[in-house]
Amino acid sequence: MIIKACLFDLDGVLVDTARFHFLVWKQLADKLDFDFTETDNERLKGVSRMDSLEILLEIGNISATEEEKLNFAEEKNRIYLDFIRQMTPNDVLPGSREFLNELKSHGVFTGLGSASKNARLILEKTNLLSLFDAVVDGNLIRHAKPNPEVFALGAQMLRVESTECVVFEDAVAGIQAAHNAGMKCIGIGSAEILIEADLIFPGLMNLRISNLVFPDLASR
Ligand code: G6P
Ligand code: MG
Repeated sequence: MIIKACLFDLDGVLVDTARFHFLVWKQLADKLDFDFTETDNERLKGVSRMDSLEILLEIGNISATEEEKLNFAEEKNRIYLDFIRQMTPNDVLPGSREFLNELKSHGVFTGLGSASKNARLILEKTNLLSLFDAVVDGNLIRHAKPNPEVFALGAQMLRVESTECVVFEDAVAGIQAAHNAGMKCIGIGSAEILIEADLIFPGLMNLRISNLVFPDLASR
């Protein structure tokens, strides 16, 4: 396979914003008087803001009107933004910047594929924005992962074929989105959870383009 582009999920792959999402959703759960654990939070990874809220309310067995839901989501984002605004280049996960530079030095295009509407701000605060040739965020897509839209649009913006792209993802829904787009997917995290990925690495640390060798399907 000739890799012309690498597409990255943001949260959990390049930065660890999941802990901010968790802290703020937990505040809302506390306010509504129910328990929300880190295990529950796994279900919100890669899921859009409104869908995350729906899952949260389901966990708490809370019913709310559309207006209340919009208010909850707005309040959540207001507090979340206070965390994001304090992010610095030090919040980039180990190896991310080096790996993006490695890809650039080999002429491989880089794209972001995130469900977050705050993705651009996070890239700015962490000084990663200039390392991307294309940014697809939650403002540009209508369908959440596992729908392939976020990655298909990235490939289109970079003018490459889906078969020339490799996606980096930490969420199961994201791996499915990559496969639904006809792309290879590298799971970042635990092999037990990311079983559907074509290759799995614990993080981007020390990763080289030469490590991206996919097992031959025929020999599996
Ligand atoms: C990412 C995160 C989700 C988050 C979503 C929307 O996919 O993994 O946990 O809910 O982005 O983020 P936003 O910044 O738009 O609220
Ligand atoms: Mg993620």
